[in-house]
Amino acid sequence: MGGNISFQRIPISKDRIVVVTGGNTGIGYETAKWMAMLGASVIIACRSEKRAQEAITRMKSDFRERVKEQKTEGVTQTDDLSVEFMKLDLSSLKSTKEFVDQFTESGRPLNTLICNAGIAFHPLEYTEDGNETMFQVNYLSHLLLTFHLLPIMKRSGDDNRVILVSSHGHNNHSTPFSVDKIQGNNTTQITFQDSNTMETRNYIRFYKLNPGLVDTEVTRGFQDSSWMTWSWKIVRAFSKSPAEGAEHTLNAAINPALKGVRDVYFQDCKPKNTNADARNKDIQESVLEYSLSCLNDYITDDIRNEWKTQ
Ligand SMILES: NC(=O)c1ccc[n+]([C@@H]2O[C@H](COP(=O)([O-])OP(=O)(O)OC[C@H]3O[C@@H](n4cnc5c(N)ncnc54)[C@H](OP(=O)(O)O)[C@@H]3O)[C@@H](O)[C@H]2O)c1
Repeated sequence: MGGNISFQRIPISKDRIVVVTGGNTGIGYETAKWMAMLGASVIIACRSEKRAQEAITRMKSDFRERVKEQKTEGVTQTDDLSVEFMKLDLSSLKSTKEFVDQFTESGRPLNTLICNAGIAFHPLEYTEDGNETMFQVNYLSHLLLTFHLLPIMKRSGDDNRVILVSSHGHNNHSTPFSVDKIQGNNTTQITFQDSNTMETRNYIRFYKLNPGLVDTEVTRGFQDSSWMTWSWKIVRAFSKSPAEGAEHTLNAAINPALKGVRDVYFQDCKPKNTNADARNKDIQESVLEYSLSCLNDYITDDIRNEWKTQ
């Protein structure tokens, strides 16, 4: 079910730093593991230290198993993987900013930011910041991360990429997009993690992708009796494994053929147009304006002014 995804896997220097949000399970786990197996230094940014540390142990054991079975083609020549945990709870802007501060203070470069963590069909709930939870976890906190980490990426050398693991959600709405409804009945639209407002930037490559239907823990938010739970039971038979789902992210993150190519949305690893609303400049501006207002206490005037004048 993984499709015909084929790209050249070249070793990655351990000096290249990769951050994967939600790297402890599902698509993020496989993505983080593969980036580390190719040689990069990977940070999994997760809300639970316990789940993250267990995931790191599993990644290392998967790697040792692979070496034992001599399945080492394209895999780094090392005894161990470089994967570490950093705390990040995207349902809290304070936690997100603390992650940024800790990363910035470390003085490390950043080459690849993989905005992967996400929740789906979550019951209507609000975060400590007063935002609808899916809106904040999937989109707003990733935007805050990106605002603060881009300057570091800009100073971190060549071929740096921001990957937004998105979904088909940008197409799933029957009413016209309205910024007034972002936090509520229109949240599926924002799972697209609307990066179009960022696309005018010319120093970092942005790639968005839809991994398709992947059999992960993403269903944990579904209510037991909901139509989603029943639909999932049916479509699960046709879904991809997390490793196959991660191929979509890895393509965007490491495919050398994409070096120099800017700002693409991938469906099945092929460039596709996003929904017309997502490409509408007026909507992009209103979403940016609204997002900046939600992040008011966590961004500087410099960031606000820089983004407003793009
Ligand atoms: N699976 C699919 O069919 C599918 C389809 C389209 C798009 N996607 C997208 O793919 C991405 C990965 O999803 P997945 O399928 O791998 O789901 P998953 O198995 O549920 O993994 C989601 C990850 O996000 C993390 N996360 C959730 N809330 C968080 C928070 N507040 N702060 C930090 N991390 C948080 C989870 O951490 P915990 O383990 O601590 O909960 C977990 O690591 C998501 O963006 C999802 O929207 C998935």
